[in-house]
Amino acid sequence: MSVIENSKLAIVGAGAVGTSLAYAALIRESAREVALYDINSAKVAAEVLDLAHGTQFTGASRVTGGDDLDVVSGANVVVITAGARQHPGQSRLEMAGVNVEILRDLMPKLVERAPDAIFVLVTNPVDVLAVAAQQFSGLPPARVFGSGTVLDSSRLRWMLSERVGVAISNVHALIVGEHGDSEFPLWSQARIGPISLADWMLARGATGPAQGSGSVPFSEAEFESIADEVKNAAYKVIEGKGATNYAIGLSGARIVEAVLRDEGAILPVSSVLTDYRGVSGVALSVPSVIDASGIARVIDVPFSAKEQALFEHSAATLRASLDTLGL
Ligand code: NAD
Ligand code: LAC
Repeated sequence: MSVIENSKLAIVGAGAVGTSLAYAALIRESAREVALYDINSAKVAAEVLDLAHGTQFTGASRVTGGDDLDVVSGANVVVITAGARQHPGQSRLEMAGVNVEILRDLMPKLVERAPDAIFVLVTNPVDVLAVAAQQFSGLPPARVFGSGTVLDSSRLRWMLSERVGVAISNVHALIVGEHGDSEFPLWSQARIGPISLADWMLARGATGPAQGSGSVPFSEAEFESIADEVKNAAYKVIEGKGATNYAIGLSGARIVEAVLRDEGAILPVSSVLTDYRGVSGVALSVPSVIDASGIARVIDVPFSAKEQALFEHSAATLRASLDTLGL
């Protein structure tokens, strides 16, 4: 991968997530310039210095930043990670009020300074904030979206890859819906290489993969247990270390690259939907084509009847949360 000429990534919030995203973006050469902004002057200055001290080893990118919002000026992509973090046991939706108010203040100022940028929300609850940011900015949903279930899908792919003993790049599986408690895997479309997950044979009683006699398919109980493990993954990490940061940092960098390199990559980001499988007016993650315009289009995937019901449940959960916030 080579760095894009003149590309600028601005990251709002230099906490655990913002700095991990900056670190990932520098190492992956996702952008020519990575600019960090935070209201905490001492913290952001120290983070910028610490990252800058390592740029001998990161290729052509440079890192800038500070506590003046002008550091985001001219950015091509602005990723928002600012806000209160989730405490052990707290759900993402419980963090909505305070983070919506931060966005109400920030979005017009960010748009003024980076009028052509694509805005990517990471702060939670990310699906609620994607709606709020889109409303406060007045930009089209294609230019303001959430990192959604890109992270959760990576968690799912890692778990499946460990279970079947196949490279994670050859495991094709998605989590869709809310980035939160009502999310679910799109099992009907999951594949390992060219084989649908429903047809994949596991060795009886073994943990590794096997095709042929003495093998069994994944059971319903296994599907449910993997789905639960993905859904609860963040709670487990937060319980142990207080935050999730590395995997979301990498996921964020991947989304940024898809925009800056005009890739047309398919990623499950969260955008305000219009009649997507009957759902409108809420932001949920569905496979979306990401290029320099932001979301070029969402992809209409066939759902099983059970998946359709779960998707509608996710939409109703988000609608209820948006209603309480007046969004
Ligand atoms: P953190 O507390 O480490 O960092 C948050 C930073 O935001 C702090 O440095 C704080 O000073 C800054 N901040 C607060 N208000 C600000 C403002 N108005 N302008 C600029 N900066 C401001 O928290 P964290 O662990 O980095 O998490 C950040 C957010 O990301 C949380 O909401 C968390 O739940 C979310 N998150 C989302 C995902 C995802 O997949 N979407 C994954 C992990 C974390
Ligand atoms: C995650 C955050 C907490 O790691 O949303 O899933």
